[in-house]
Amino acid sequence: MSYLEGDLKKIYNVIRRKNTNEKENIRKKRILSGITPSGDGNLHIGNYLGAVRQFIEFAKSYDCFLMVADLHALTTVQDKATLQKNTENLILNELALLGDLHNITFFRQSDVVMHAELTWILNNVTPLGLLKRAHAYKDKLQNDVMEEEINLGLFNYPILMASDILLYKPDFVPVGRDQKQHVEICRDIGGRFNKTYKLKIFPLPEPHIPEEVAVIMGTDGKRKMSKSLGNIIGIFEDEAVIKKQVMSTYTDPTRIHADDPGHIEGNMVFAYLDFFGDPTSPRLRGASNLNRLKEDYKAGRVGDVEVKNYLYESLLKYFAPARERYAELKGNPVKVKKILQDGAARAREVAGATMSEVRESIGLTNSYSFFEY
Ligand code: TYM
Repeated sequence: MSYLEGDLKKIYNVIRRKNTNEKENIRKKRILSGITPSGDGNLHIGNYLGAVRQFIEFAKSYDCFLMVADLHALTTVQDKATLQKNTENLILNELALLGDLHNITFFRQSDVVMHAELTWILNNVTPLGLLKRAHAYKDKLQNDVMEEEINLGLFNYPILMASDILLYKPDFVPVGRDQKQHVEICRDIGGRFNKTYKLKIFPLPEPHIPEEVAVIMGTDGKRKMSKSLGNIIGIFEDEAVIKKQVMSTYTDPTRIHADDPGHIEGNMVFAYLDFFGDPTSPRLRGASNLNRLKEDYKAGRVGDVEVKNYLYESLLKYFAPARERYAELKGNPVKVKKILQDGAARAREVAGATMSEVRESIGLTNSYSFFEY
C-alpha cells in the first residue's frame, strides 16, 4: 500500500468512526413497556397512574415502544372470543389515553414474531432456579394450585417479558412495582446471554418506578388496585358504573356522622384526589388546591358524599378527552388497524436488527445461511 493510500485509509477510518459515534449520540433514549389484555382488557386508574401516564411523559422526548402483550395473556385467557375482545378493548383504551402518538411506536406483541423467537433462545441461558423465584409463579403455588398443573407459559412468562424488553434495547422500562422483579429477571437473563457468548449484545435496562405511583391502592384501601380483586375505578366504563365505584371507595371508618372530624391518611378518596382533583371546581370553595378541602374534612365541615361527588366529577373531567377519543376510535377500525400496522412495521425493523445480531453471535448463521428479516 502506498503512503497516499495509507493516509487516505486513516482519514476514511477517522470519518467512519466519527459518523458512527454521531449516529449513536443522536439515537434518542428509548423506553419499552407493555400491558397485558387480561381481565376484560379495560384499564383502571391504577394502570393509568402506574404506567400510561409515564408513557405520555416519556414520549415528550424519548423514543417509546409500547405493546399490547397478547402472547402474555395466553397464559391465563384460553378462550378465543375472550382474548379477541380483551385485546380489542385494550388497544382502544390505550390509544384513547395516549392521544398523540408522536414518538410512540404502538404495536401488538403477536404481530412481531421475533418475541417468540428470542424467547426460545433465551430459554437456553435461563436457569430453572431463577424462574422459580418469580413472584407470579410463587403466588400461584400459594393459591393451592399444584405445581404439576401450572402451565409452562406461566412459568416462562418472565422469559417472554425479557425478550419483549431486550429486543428493543431500551434505556428504561416504566412499570408499576408489581413488575419490578420481572425487569430484574430480564436484566439477569440479558447479562447471562452476554456472558455466555462473550458479547455485549444486550444493554441492561433500568426499571422506572416513580415512588408516588409505584402501587396505587384499590377502592378497598387494603390491596393493590386490580381488576381481579374488584377494587378498581374504571376510565371508560359508563358514568353510572364509575359513580358506583367512586361512591363505594374506602374513606375513614372512624367517621360515623358527616360532621365528625375525618382523617386524610389512608383515605382513598383524597389519595385519588391528589392526582385527579379538578383545581377549578366550585367544590373547592374558592381555593385553588385541595388543602382547604382537606382542612374542612379534618374539622368535620364537609361530608364524605360531597368529597366523593367532587372526585367523580373530577375524574369525568380529567378523562373527558380520552373518552371522546375512545368513541371516535371505536367507530373507526380502519384507523386503528393502520396504527397497528405502522407500529408493527417499525417494531419489526428494530426487533429484526437485534435478532440478526443474536443469530450471528450464537452460531445460527453459517456459510449456507440466507435468512433475512
Ligand atoms: P399488567 O398488564 O398487569 O399491568 C400494566 C401496567 O400497569 C401497572 N399497574 C399498576 N401500577 C400501579 N398501581 C397499580 N395498582 C397497578 N396495576 C397495574 C403494572 O405494573 C404495569 O406496568 N407483564 C406486564 C406486561 C408486559 C410488560 C412487558 C411490561 C409484558 N411485556 C415488557 C413491561 C415490559 C403485565 O402483565 O402488566
